[in-house]
Amino acid sequence: MRDPDSDPEQAIVAGQPPAIRLERAGWRDLRGVAAIQKASFRPGLAYSLSGLSILSVFPGVVFLVARSDALPVAGCVIADRHRGNIRIMNLAVDPAARRQGVGTALLRGVEAAFPAGDIMLMAEEWNTGAQALYEREGYQRSGVAHDYYGKGRHGVSLKKARGPAGHRRIQV
Ligand SMILES: CC(C)(COP(=O)(O)OP(=O)(O)OC[C@H]1O[C@@H](n2cnc3c(N)ncnc32)[C@H](O)[C@@H]1OP(=O)(O)O)[C@@H](O)C(=O)NCCC(=O)NCCS
Repeated sequence: MRDPDSDPEQAIVAGQPPAIRLERAGWRDLRGVAAIQKASFRPGLAYSLSGLSILSVFPGVVFLVARSDALPVAGCVIADRHRGNIRIMNLAVDPAARRQGVGTALLRGVEAAFPAGDIMLMAEEWNTGAQALYEREGYQRSGVAHDYYGKGRHGVSLKKARGPAGHRRIQV
């Protein structure tokens, strides 16, 4: 039997719209993910089909897609372990599926796939929409990386502190 706490396919927890389903990305999903990348990021930041193909089979990488009734690939998230933390490398939702809980479901899918460890990510400073999502999900700003995305394009690092598996760290 699957362990619902560590199986991202079972990660649609109470409170999530039942129409959104998470699965590990398969090769059939990659073209759809590449299209979402292109629609979501400027050239240079969007993952290409070849990059996505490598990530989809890379050991230790969790690459999830969200499906809805309307879209076979409504969004994606890519995460791995990095220097003792969980790192979210990429999160993107089809423009037609935004503000429907898909990004939230994908972030929760990462938490289910990696039940313990702090989660880190980087967002462009101007991207206040993404930062609002992260903050709503319990991430806090942990620093600014100047010129991280190119000259004058600063990055904001965000972190979600978690305790041992299944427990949240108590903030004092
Ligand atoms: C950022 C992104 C992933 C959000 O995905 P999403 O599916 O729309 O997010 P959700 O529907 O789960 O949003 C949950 C909450 O986050 C906040 N939020 C999300 N997007 C927001 C935006 N553009 N502006 C303000 N708040 C936003 C809201 O509080 C929202 O709740 P509400 O819709 O009830 O107001 C999506 O807009 C996207 O793919 N953007 C382009 C790529 C990108 O910026 N990726 C992140 C890189 S760091």
